[in-house]
Amino acid sequence: MPISRRDLILSGMAAAGLPTLLAACSSDERAASGPSGSPSSTGAAATPGTAGATTLAATPACGDDDGPTLAQTEGPFFTSGSPANADLAAGVGSGTRLSLSGTVLTTRCDPVKRAKLDFWQADDEGEYDNSGFRLRGHVFTDDQGRYQITTVMPGLYPGRTRHIHVKAQAPGGRPLTTQLYFPGEAANGRDSIYRKECEVTMSDGPGGGKQASFAFVLEA
Ligand SMILES: [Fe+2]
Repeated sequence: MPISRRDLILSGMAAAGLPTLLAACSSDERAASGPSGSPSSTGAAATPGTAGATTLAATPACGDDDGPTLAQTEGPFFTSGSPANADLAAGVGSGTRLSLSGTVLTTRCDPVKRAKLDFWQADDEGEYDNSGFRLRGHVFTDDQGRYQITTVMPGLYPGRTRHIHVKAQAPGGRPLTTQLYFPGEAANGRDSIYRKECEVTMSDGPGGGKQASFAFVLEA
């Protein structure tokens, strides 16, 4: 029986002590944004709070607005064969540390276990490693469809706001290529690829770092 995103948040956040935030990016929301690219708000709740599950506000139940995550361009900097690595920030000397976590769900709201999430991004100076795998790596979701990586906040480069590229793939499924964005960035409005519905939700993390969350929804 499908479980709700709220259930997933409650179980995931309680287990991991992660921020009580969730963002999703669905084609339903894309359709609502219109051809001009002016995005609508997401249907997901974004309620800052503590790690205590009792502080959570209600999150819309899964099943009422759960189109797949919006596909976005791969861009020119993807490298196949990234290592399995949940700590993309290892060995990266500069940049604000970022913990990114969330879930992978089907459009029927079931968690997707062993989904592969392959991330790549620029460093805090806007540079990609195109000869190696710095700030590149993949992880798999657990039995509850949860994932978590540590990285750094990506920097800006000409024409682009801050973003993280990702390919999300259920076992045996087709990979979905998309990009994640950050709320409140001045450059969001100047980036023609940016879409609000692909924003993560953010909170401050320990030691001056940041924490972000995003729920991927895959066709099922
Ligand atoms: Fe990029």
